[in-house]
Amino acid sequence: MNADAKHSIKADIAHHVHPQSNLRQHAEKGPTMITHGKGVFIYDSEGREIIDGFSGLGCVSLGYHNERLADAAMGQMNTLPFAPTFYNRSHPRVAELGERLIGLAPGGMNRVMFQCSGSEANDTAIKLLWYTNTANGNPNRRKIIGRVRGYHGNTVATVSLSGQPHMHRKFGLPLPEFKHTELPNYYRFHIDGESEIEFSNRMAAHFEDLVLSEGPETVAAFFAEPAISGGGALMPPEGYWDAMQAVLRKYDIKFVADEVVCGFGRTGNLWGSQTWGLKPDMVSCAKALSAAFFPISALMFKDEMYADMMKNSDEVGVFGHGYTYAGHPVGAAVALEALDIYDEIDLVGHVRKVSETFLARCRALSDHPLVAEVRGVGLFCGLELMKDATKREPFDPSWKVGELVQNFAHDRGLYLRAIGDRMSFMPPLIIKEYEIEIAADRFKAALDDAWAVVRGRV
Ligand SMILES: Cc1ncc(COP(=O)(O)O)c(C=O)c1O
Repeated sequence: MNADAKHSIKADIAHHVHPQSNLRQHAEKGPTMITHGKGVFIYDSEGREIIDGFSGLGCVSLGYHNERLADAAMGQMNTLPFAPTFYNRSHPRVAELGERLIGLAPGGMNRVMFQCSGSEANDTAIKLLWYTNTANGNPNRRKIIGRVRGYHGNTVATVSLSGQPHMHRKFGLPLPEFKHTELPNYYRFHIDGESEIEFSNRMAAHFEDLVLSEGPETVAAFFAEPAISGGGALMPPEGYWDAMQAVLRKYDIKFVADEVVCGFGRTGNLWGSQTWGLKPDMVSCAKALSAAFFPISALMFKDEMYADMMKNSDEVGVFGHGYTYAGHPVGAAVALEALDIYDEIDLVGHVRKVSETFLARCRALSDHPLVAEVRGVGLFCGLELMKDATKREPFDPSWKVGELVQNFAHDRGLYLRAIGDRMSFMPPLIIKEYEIEIAADRFKAALDDAWAVVRGRV
């Protein structure tokens, strides 16, 4: 490690407070310092080459090097590096991007607002629901329902909506208007003998009970990721979305599809909503919108909602919401270029093609003694690690088996994410078949390494 790298690590430990990190571990061991990247590979300050099996944070769709995206950013920086979208001002790139996104959106969306992150897109969705409900005669519809283990962001509202206990504890959250319905993890929570469809119907019945106990006239919306990402790469069980959407229709509850991870090809369709037949009223997206080369997110919704916003804007004199960097010209230029590239290389077609190898190699890991279940679609895979797969007995959490696998994988040159004892594997969407083979070999070797440690204890 050279002197510069040593200095960066020291400075990072001394001053930089890291989000979603173990602070004690950071103080004692310091960061993994990533210095550069190319294709699906990242390189650390010790010179290690690592396949990024988590696409950064599920966002680096086109890998770590792309001259076209860099040129698009540079070109825009040299033409118009910033322009506000407040006060009825605009610029060509953001107008084009809006039109383009509405053309691609699932479910008849007509309007779009831009932000810089998935959290801000979802936070805006919550505010728009509350705002429009004051215009359409439903001011008491303020409650927002998410799911246990769902992940929708880190603002005060979106973290309240997320069902992640470690993000609530010590923060005095969630806020009271946010409720959570069951986690649809069939493998872990089905009753013996229960089919997937029966399980899905039971999940929907729980949801309906929650709506009824809260009072349907107080519920504004249900937010969900088409497939749960931050909760551990969980695919919806058969019949789940049909059953859940029937409840939403019955009580006239708005459905917000959080496509922040699933959007732009991850599941083998442009949107997770297409993969599972979702009919949302609003859609949020971020991450792969710009291939993660620039922070930009979007929230899309329908004209009907826009009409209610118009009423309030008429009354108040302004639609009083927005962020300085909403629709940033550089972000918009990069996103437009990313969407062009997706079309030109037929990214969705590529994901479908390589996902056969990807899913076959992942499913082959289900024979491993640590692995209880493998699930996946497209380039999105989750593995459930369990002490006893048949009895569905988890490992003692203090053994940190997931973290062990994650660390061994890193040592072998593969970055994976452990969410408790759920492994999430979601490489950049441009990954090639031979790279999948290498990554899968490393994953298997990491499981073997972890098994060598754990075997004596089970
Ligand atoms: C499904 C989902 N929604 C929202 C977010 C929040 O996005 P951001 O971190 O850009 O605020 C994330 C982040 O990982 C996510 O996975």
